[in-house]
Order: sequence, then C-alpha cells, then structure tokens
Amino acid sequence: MRLTVLSRSLSVPSTARLVAAARARGHAVRVLDPVQVEMHLDGERGHLLYRRRRLVLPDVVLPRIAQSITSYGLAVVNQYGMLGVPVMNTAAAIAHARNKMRCLQLLSAHGISVPATVMARSAGDLKAMVQLVGGVPVLVKLLGGGDERGVMVCETLNSLEAALEAILGLGHNLLVQEYVRKKGRDVRVLVVGGKALAAVRRRPRMNRLAQTLNRGARFERIPMTEAHARVAVEAARLMGLEVAAVDMLDVRGPPKVFEVHSSPGLAEMEKAVGEDLATPVILRAEQLARERPPALDPSPLPRLSRRTRQGSASLKRARAS
Ligand SMILES: Nc1ncnc2c1ncn2[C@@H]1O[C@H](COP(=O)(O)OP(=O)(O)O)[C@@H](O)[C@H]1O
Ligand SMILES: [Mg+2]
Repeated sequence: MRLTVLSRSLSVPSTARLVAAARARGHAVRVLDPVQVEMHLDGERGHLLYRRRRLVLPDVVLPRIAQSITSYGLAVVNQYGMLGVPVMNTAAAIAHARNKMRCLQLLSAHGISVPATVMARSAGDLKAMVQLVGGVPVLVKLLGGGDERGVMVCETLNSLEAALEAILGLGHNLLVQEYVRKKGRDVRVLVVGGKALAAVRRRPRMNRLAQTLNRGARFERIPMTEAHARVAVEAARLMGLEVAAVDMLDVRGPPKVFEVHSSPGLAEMEKAVGEDLATPVILRAEQLARERPPALDPSPLPRLSRRTRQGSASLKRARAS
C-alpha cells in the first residue's frame, strides 16, 4: 500500500510512530508537509503538486493537520478526498471536531451526555446563563480561531462578567460550561475504526486546571469501562472520525464528553499504556484501501458535455476580445 501522512514533520512523535508502523508492515510511506502541497484546480479533476511536482495519488491518506494550519490543511485533505483517495479522517469530520460549539451540538443532539453548556455572544443576563449550567463556579472556554484557546474557572458572577466582557471584546466566541470538580475526572479514550483501543486518565500538574499534555499533564492507563468504550465509539461515529481521542469527564452516570480530537497524540498514549497503538491505525488504513468503493476510484470525474465546453470556450474568446 502507498500511504501518505500529511504532517509538518517526521520529527513529530506521533507521525514518526505511524510511519514506523506502516514501514514495518511493508508499506511505502511519504510524509508531506500540508502547507507545501499545492492544489491545481483546472475545471476537470484537479490535481495536487508538491514543491511544484505533480503528486502520484496514494492508496490512503492519514492527515495529521496542526491546529495552526487547519484551514489550508483541510483544503488539501478535501482535495485528496475529492480525487477518491480514502482519507482517515475526512476534512469535514476534522472541521466538525475542531469546532467546539458544533462538536457539542452534534453530540448532544444525538444523545451523548455533555457538560451543561451555554453559548452566547453577549454578556447580557448573566444570572440566567449561569443558572442554566447549575450555578457558579463555571468554566469559560475561549474559542478563538486557530491556536487561541484556553479555559478559566469563574467562581463568582463578577469574575464571570469580567471574563466575558474581555473575551467578547476581543471578538472571540466562548462557551460557559458547568465546572465538574471531581478528582481524577479526566478520561481519554482512543477510538480507531469504530473500536475503543485504550483508556487513560489525565492528571494535571500540581495546582493546574488544564489537564493537557503541553501544559504538563500526565497520562496513566486505566481499565476501560463499558460506558467509556460505548460513549467514545458513539462520539467518534457521530463526528465521522476514523481515528479519534474522546475526552470525557468521569462522573456519576454516563461520562460527559467535552472534546473530541481528530489527530490524537498517539506516541504519548502509547507510552502510558505500554502498547503499540500506531499499528491498529495502519491496519484500519489497509482495510479502507481494500474496501475503497469502485465509484470513488480516481477515474476522471464526469466531464462537461462537448457543447458546454465549446460554449465556455467561445465565452472565454468573447471575453478576451
Ligand atoms: N466542564 C468541565 N469541568 C471541569 N473541567 C473541565 C471541563 N471541561 C474541560 N475541563 C478541563 O479543562 C481542560 C481544557 O478544556 P478543553 O475543553 O479540553 O479545552 P482546550 O481546547 O484548551 O483543550 C480539559 O483538559 C479538562 O481538564
Ligand atoms: Mg483539550
């Protein structure tokens, strides 16, 4: 199988793991930096170029698009998809997952439990807003485009008002969410091809709220409960993600999903669980390549009829003269 990994660099640990796992299974792998892929749309099939040279289409594409280049990266992923190459994950699914508002809307509309959340564009009627999520303290999540994000706990209506005014004043969107305080609440489940493979708990650095790795959090393996697996698999399916890490709060009753990642940090998770998690991704890629429906073969898209083409050619001539 010819596999293309779209990633800024082979030195990104998860990219390196995927490449190693694919090579170990005898596949030909290329890592392409998505911002160096150019798209040429010519009114017919369109094609892709890399550093000005036309790319031969692979059998499967694994996008690992960094947040900071989401918009361009997704255009590239979309172009592969339109040319009939199976992509794991599709551009639409990645876009859904990266939009926190859309992600929570979609999950909650389909019966997945999410933390009580209010989305609003003004700080008016704060009290009512806070009551909807069960009172203070609440969590405010900043939803900038690209890399601007962050969470803050607001203990009082006053601090919430100040936070909302500051964020809205910058023109950013935000979420106000019920703040779950339970210790050891953060669980992440990796889902590949509709199967829950591993569960970890995240511990924040001392006195830190955010349990994300780049802010010093640590992963540790936990036994996966039936509820974790069921909710994670269903969340990934609803988002249309072949590969996903589903972040949830372990509370009484069904776990509450608060974020779904489309390019999960595989290397960090492997370290925590002591298992190869990259090979299952490659096995699923092999399966998608085998199952690729003939209708999606990269044969030319239906061409315009001759008459339409002549019509547009004479239109062009008329415009030029
Ligand atoms: N509703 C919540 N209650 C308590 N803690 C939360 C809640 N939502 C998120 N967190 C914590 O805050 C961190 C950051 O939130 P998240 O939605 O993942 O934002 P980011 O975009 O910064 O990753 C999470 O890793 C989790 O530890
Ligand atoms: Mg997060």
